[in-house]
Amino acid sequence: MSEFSITYRYEAYFTTEVFAPGNELLCRALQAGGLTAPVRVFFVVEKELLQFYPELPAAIEGYCRAHVSAMKLAAPPLLQAGGEACKDIGVSLQLCEAFLAARLCRQSCVIIVGGGALLDAAGFAAAIFHRGLRQLRIPTTALSQCDSGVGVKNGVNYLGKKNLLGCFAPPLAVINDAAFLRTLPPEMVSAAAAEAVKVAMIKDSDFFAWLTAQAPAIMAGDLAALATLVRRSAEIHQQHIVTGGDPFEYGSARPLDFGHWSAHKMEMLSEQRLSHGVAVGMGMLIDCRYAVLMGILAKDAYTALRALLRAFALPFDGAVLELRDAGGRRLVMAGLEEFREHLGGQLHITLPTAIGAKIEVTSIDDARMNEAMDLVLRDE
Ligand SMILES: NC(=O)c1ccc[n+]([C@@H]2O[C@H](COP(=O)([O-])OP(=O)(O)OC[C@H]3O[C@@H](n4cnc5c(N)ncnc54)[C@H](O)[C@@H]3O)[C@@H](O)[C@H]2O)c1
Ligand SMILES: [Zn+2]
Repeated sequence: MSEFSITYRYEAYFTTEVFAPGNELLCRALQAGGLTAPVRVFFVVEKELLQFYPELPAAIEGYCRAHVSAMKLAAPPLLQAGGEACKDIGVSLQLCEAFLAARLCRQSCVIIVGGGALLDAAGFAAAIFHRGLRQLRIPTTALSQCDSGVGVKNGVNYLGKKNLLGCFAPPLAVINDAAFLRTLPPEMVSAAAAEAVKVAMIKDSDFFAWLTAQAPAIMAGDLAALATLVRRSAEIHQQHIVTGGDPFEYGSARPLDFGHWSAHKMEMLSEQRLSHGVAVGMGMLIDCRYAVLMGILAKDAYTALRALLRAFALPFDGAVLELRDAGGRRLVMAGLEEFREHLGGQLHITLPTAIGAKIEVTSIDDARMNEAMDLVLRDE
């Protein structure tokens, strides 16, 4: 019998202008991570960022030169195209080749600067190279700052399946730099808002009220308010990982996937016309309408959610709900079984019982769910 446990400890820091020479945060984060200074660091930087931040590679090199006692560049920053296409095993293996060429060892640190997709692909490469190098994440989208960046998962798509290959690998640290948020297009703000609304709806009624009050300002470009949204959402996600009792997801319950069983299916049925954020908004609305029908959620809560999603420009685009099989069953309903397979074991669906509170149910009444979709489509 072998039994041992490992304690993971990592901080999500918040700053602006992380590579300004006077900003000591990155040095402190590396030091707190326990690696011996000067740490050999290898930067993977999302290439597309250069159109907004052409000075980024030079700023990184300048920062390292200004902090030679804390870190040493193992190679010049590697520019890698990001977005969903980079979540490919070939890209992760190429990154491993670059790590080898730079002679990274288990005391080195890979620092990834980019959106959620690049964090997933480069994080996966770091996690498998020499059985796992430490990785420090600098997420650059609002979504990755408030959700995936502070989490413990990495992965790439394979055989047409999202995140089929991947692993759990907590980062050494996460640094959220609010200065990156200023170049995000509105739809990427909406995408982050969808996940923020999700955690507010099931875990934090005060945050829900705050989001309701601030949505117009956030959508009008108020960066301070967006940074607060990111920070609170990141805190709730992180808190869930720490206190939820199942950080590596061995069980079947996955509360942070509220609204996601139908969202994943709707994204697929729309052939990705629906973005993840819009689909999650729709999925939450459907599940809340179902909860109202089942008598576990007050109608007012559903109405408040609908208004908040609209304020964040997350429309209900119901065309995918009209797709049916030969027997007349909505195709989206197959998402339930796919979700159960994805979780493994028993079906677990999270349903709100009030704004900020939730339960898990292990079965869904098909007819009622179908009725809920009809009602949402009729805006009732
Ligand atoms: N590992 C996890 O736990 C987890 C959780 C949720 C989502 N994800 C993954 O995250 C990915 C989505 O991440 P995302 O929403 O960050 O999108 P993304 O990484 O696909 O990036 C989208 C676009 O934003 C651009 N971009 C990045 N930073 C920018 C900036 N500061 N200004 C302007 N444009 C910028 C990118 O170049 C890219 O074109 C998906 O692959 C999803 O599966 C992972
Ligand atoms: Zn999501």
